[in-house]
Amino acid sequence: MQLYVDSANLKDIKHATSLGFVSGVTTNPSLLAKEDPSLDIKELILDIHKSVGGHVSVEVVSTDTDGMLREADEILSWFPEATIKIPFIPAGLTAVAALSKQNIPTNVTLCFTAIQGLIAANAGATYVSIFLGRLDDIGTDGIQAIEDATEIWDVHQLDAQIIAASLRHPMHVLACAQAGAHIATVPYKVLMQCLNHPLTDKGLEAFLADAKKMQAQKG
Ligand code: G3P
Repeated sequence: MQLYVDSANLKDIKHATSLGFVSGVTTNPSLLAKEDPSLDIKELILDIHKSVGGHVSVEVVSTDTDGMLREADEILSWFPEATIKIPFIPAGLTAVAALSKQNIPTNVTLCFTAIQGLIAANAGATYVSIFLGRLDDIGTDGIQAIEDATEIWDVHQLDAQIIAASLRHPMHVLACAQAGAHIATVPYKVLMQCLNHPLTDKGLEAFLADAKKMQAQKG
């Protein structure tokens, strides 16, 4: 399972990608709205693209197909490798089908069921983002939606990649990997939580202390 960072914060993205295990970034309007309002969105997206050197999903905000396709053109004029993130609404599916015919990668977002994922895949989506944290938030089993999707993908050998999104904690990352999601897009804070283990820190402390002791005995 590949790991992406779900963020629009350049500092966090630069740090996460510098660690060598992050292969993409997903953004959305709410993440962008958390950033300094004086930042130029295009410049920010281009900086994100430069620092990742991999997948970057940029979301459209139109709700009609023509508007989405116009926005896609604009985003692609910024950098042609962009993945166009499109909400799971009927107008979005039409836009996905049109972009798919032009071999432009799309990420269908706001999917909450495996069926929505299946529909998006049939429309030609390259990626389908299934949100699990928001399902958990309303007392529904988010992981089940990911498991349902991976089961369908296994049976039908679909080409689209399943992105597990809306992750809240490291156990979500583990469960998504176990369920067979192709990608998990993880908030920076949760990625950092995944790096920490007290026994790693304690073990390193002991190794370094012993190495120092050994050097002192030799010298
Ligand atoms: O990638 C989608 C994700 O950003 C949604 O996360 O935490 O707003 O549910 P959240």
